[in-house]
Amino acid sequence: MSDSSSNAMWGGRFAAGPDAIMEAINASIGFDKRLAAQDIAGSRAHAAMLAAQGILRDSDAEAIREGLLTVLSEIESGSFQFSTALEDIHMNVESRLKEIVGEPAGRLHTARSRNDQVATDFRLWVRDQIDAAIGGVEALIRALLVQAEAGADWVMPGFTHLQTAQPVTWGHHMMAYVEMFSRDLSRFKDARVRMNESPLGAAALAGTSFPINRHMTAEALGFDRPMANSLDAVSARDFALEFLGAASICAMHLSRFAEELVIWSSAQFRFVTLSDRFSTGSSIMPQKKNPDAAELIRAKIGRIFGANVALMMVMKGLPLAYSKDMQEDKEQVFDAADNLMLALAAMEGMVKDMSANRPQLAAAAGSGFSTATDLADWLVRVLDMPFRDAHHVTGSLVALAEEKGCDLPDLTLEDMKSVHDAITEEVFGVLGVDNSVASRMSYGGTAPEQVRAQVARWKEVLG
Ligand code: ARG
Repeated sequence: MSDSSSNAMWGGRFAAGPDAIMEAINASIGFDKRLAAQDIAGSRAHAAMLAAQGILRDSDAEAIREGLLTVLSEIESGSFQFSTALEDIHMNVESRLKEIVGEPAGRLHTARSRNDQVATDFRLWVRDQIDAAIGGVEALIRALLVQAEAGADWVMPGFTHLQTAQPVTWGHHMMAYVEMFSRDLSRFKDARVRMNESPLGAAALAGTSFPINRHMTAEALGFDRPMANSLDAVSARDFALEFLGAASICAMHLSRFAEELVIWSSAQFRFVTLSDRFSTGSSIMPQKKNPDAAELIRAKIGRIFGANVALMMVMKGLPLAYSKDMQEDKEQVFDAADNLMLALAAMEGMVKDMSANRPQLAAAAGSGFSTATDLADWLVRVLDMPFRDAHHVTGSLVALAEEKGCDLPDLTLEDMKSVHDAITEEVFGVLGVDNSVASRMSYGGTAPEQVRAQVARWKEVLG
């Protein structure tokens, strides 16, 4: 086979071109074209550095940098012809650059390898996604704060085991998610700090004999510093795993909230009404309004966590430094990032639009003997009963109410006295749900005053 059919980048060593199946398994251009902007930014920084260090003529560096902008605009406008034979984004860009600027294009790859190139491109891409995730989570938190502030004193049932436990406030429930998502926020921010180091200039694995300036390229690309070990620089993918880890936990939080919205919007609960804009109808059952967005958000964790596991598996057995296995890092991360952003935006939209059904929440808050703990606490406080005894007396009162088919506040004083004769009229004061939530003034408790203080704190934090 002639030289012309072998690869232009390494044809010197090869007599024959690849088998079609080899080309198919080897090519990544189908997906890594998404790294085009990062690839070109990295190459422009590299060319400028090579010129500043006297490794490349200024005129060549200028031609390369200008030519790369032309390539970028072709890609952005959709006129660029991607080629599978050219394997990946790096070779597609360089090959087109050669057509545009000629001989100088061949000098761009001095003191560089695709190994540090792809590591740099991917880091830049993931960094952008981290920033987008931070923005998305912040927007969701703001939407939750609006709900929490409006409903700081709206009572609703709090659940454990999905059984009515004690009354809480709508605002308190919303603020629980604010806390969860704020930890996601800090995980993304934390990951960003750790990952913001430049692999560029690590070359294939050992560094280079050319007098490059890695600090210059690191700074040009917004990295805090160059990575300190060239082997590590080309083979580390923990930055992507940290992003996927943070994304998985965030998706899990989204999924839990989505699950609540699915339950709450059902005809049996009717705690919330989701807007038409975030619901769908049924093609056969005219009464249906389905919470599809919530259901899909609930499901997204599957692919996001799947990506996390998949990349872990890709990386776990790899000796240093680069192995082609690592090409399998991208699709997973792309898919996870796309779906996380979509889920965050959809949840923000749903939260902004949803309306709590206050009367229904209040009715549910008062049913299911939700103030039984308040009654037991009253027996302890006023009658000086040990809590275990109070629990027992309250249990008997709940059984009595159940037998009579009423709630605790509907029992008469005589009913109460039939169980324990020291109980007085005053007990009815603690059986109301509003009193119940207002009394839970412990730090972090559900009292409206506590909720409002937390809302104010978060508003200040977010600015
Ligand atoms: N497409 C490759 C990847 O995504 C680029 C790096 C190729 N390096 C190599 N030594 N073949 O990992």
